[in-house]
Amino acid sequence: MAEIGFVLNGAPVRISVDSPTRTLLDWLREERGLTGTKEGCNEGDCGACTVMVTDDRGTRALNACILFLPQLHGRAVRTVEGLAGPAGEMHPVQAAMVAHHGSQCGFCTPGFVVSMAAAHLNGRTDHDDSLAGNLCRCTGYAPIVRAAEAVAGTPVPEWLRDRVRDRPAEAGPAPFAPASSDALATWYEAHPDAVLIAGATDVGLWVTKQLRDLPEVAFLHAARDLQRIETTAGGFRIGAGVTIAALRAAMEEPHPAFAELLRRFASEQVRAAATIGGNIANGSPIGDAPPPLIALGARLHLRKGDRRREIALEDFFVDYGRQDRAKGEFVEAVTIPAAASGLACYKLSKRFDQDISAVCGCFNLALEGSEIASARIAFGGMAGVPKRARSVEAALVGRPFTRETVEAALPAFAADFTPLSDMRASAGYRLETAANMLLRYFLERTGTRVDVLEVAP
Ligand SMILES: Cc1cc2nc3c(=O)[nH]c(=O)nc-3n(C[C@H](O)[C@H](O)[C@H](O)COP(=O)(O)OP(=O)(O)OC[C@H]3O[C@@H](n4cnc5c(N)ncnc54)[C@H](O)[C@@H]3O)c2cc1C
Ligand code: FES
Ligand code: FES
Repeated sequence: MAEIGFVLNGAPVRISVDSPTRTLLDWLREERGLTGTKEGCNEGDCGACTVMVTDDRGTRALNACILFLPQLHGRAVRTVEGLAGPAGEMHPVQAAMVAHHGSQCGFCTPGFVVSMAAAHLNGRTDHDDSLAGNLCRCTGYAPIVRAAEAVAGTPVPEWLRDRVRDRPAEAGPAPFAPASSDALATWYEAHPDAVLIAGATDVGLWVTKQLRDLPEVAFLHAARDLQRIETTAGGFRIGAGVTIAALRAAMEEPHPAFAELLRRFASEQVRAAATIGGNIANGSPIGDAPPPLIALGARLHLRKGDRRREIALEDFFVDYGRQDRAKGEFVEAVTIPAAASGLACYKLSKRFDQDISAVCGCFNLALEGSEIASARIAFGGMAGVPKRARSVEAALVGRPFTRETVEAALPAFAADFTPLSDMRASAGYRLETAANMLLRYFLERTGTRVDVLEVAP
């Protein structure tokens, strides 16, 4: 049993938590009767459970269904019940949803208005992106986006600002959460069978979908030193606890192709919680961060107790479900170079937003004059692990960067990969599409405009 404290809809609450993996959604609905926060999918996909969470880094929309109560300690939560003003006046996004007919059955509406209120508070106008994590089955998105457009730039209601700023002054130490990476290292070495929980966007589903009882857990969110992106002599050191949202913002200038790929990573709510460390450590063959990182030549920094080691990121992924990580060892950071002008990333999925990759291909070719001086090509979705296309790379390096060279390299994909057929794509489709991505890379880099979202004249 541990005590946590946070602010709920403007009022401080202190609660005893017996299970660290109790979700905020269950607690809101079962203990507080706050049933405006809906349960749709219970796996982070639909946004019906969206709440606003505020801390010293700002306000963001998060999915309550995969948010564990200890993650809220010292933060402020606002549910749909807390959007209206003190005299019951509607929040501007609620009024706009009425005016623009943005709701039919209404099941999705609480989640939408909370996402819209968070975006409005943050001055966001990229409505398609900020609402991509909210699904509506009956109204259609046009009236909802019109409502968001109608309120963009209007003042944030004072009541909302006042109340979200109101955090518990003395939250005390976060339970189940080491306060630094040093504390984590010591604790984890002594409890090597524990489950680490960073953003919980994977682990949340172990609880809500697989109904697993987790053994001992440690949350990483209180180890703030893991959440830094540092500029080093060689480039950037990205702490394991950096969220995908923060990484996307930081990569916009140095690695725009990487940043754009991260825009396609899940949804607003998931990116605000998910961490880069979790995306690497889970060892998924279809995680979106490993292919660009491997193409960039990333180094992975692992730590167990006081012992640290560094490996090439591709060497971390040994086999399906098996990574080069000892018990009690955790991912501390990943380092990447400052620039790579040749980097391009292509994510192929059935939907543009909020979908896992069928194939994710990343290309980083350096040219010297007209010759390919070096090549790093990495794929997700093509093997049991994120993997480099070493035969393709070998077929390119040292040759002129011409269509002939590229076409001659295409058969090498079959030497590098024996992909699987699954619900996302067949093996044949994967192989063909991977080869086409290289062709697309060549065309784009030699000046042909390629945009799969537009019909070109
Ligand atoms: C709706 C939805 C959509 C998604 N879409 C995408 C997508 O488009 N692309 C994509 O790549 N992923 C996607 N995911 C998967 C998930 O969001 C990512 O894998 C995410 O990066 C996991 O990070 P996390 O911090 O939430 O990890 P957690 O769930 O907290 O942890 C994941 C695993 O990593 C371990 N772990 C976490 N941090 C560390 C560390 N520092 N050291 C050692 N072990 C650690 C945990 O113990 C656990 O085994 C999606 C998930 C959801 C729910
Ligand atoms: S219930 Fe669907 S995202 Fe939470
Ligand atoms: S109004 Fe029915 S699901 Fe959106």
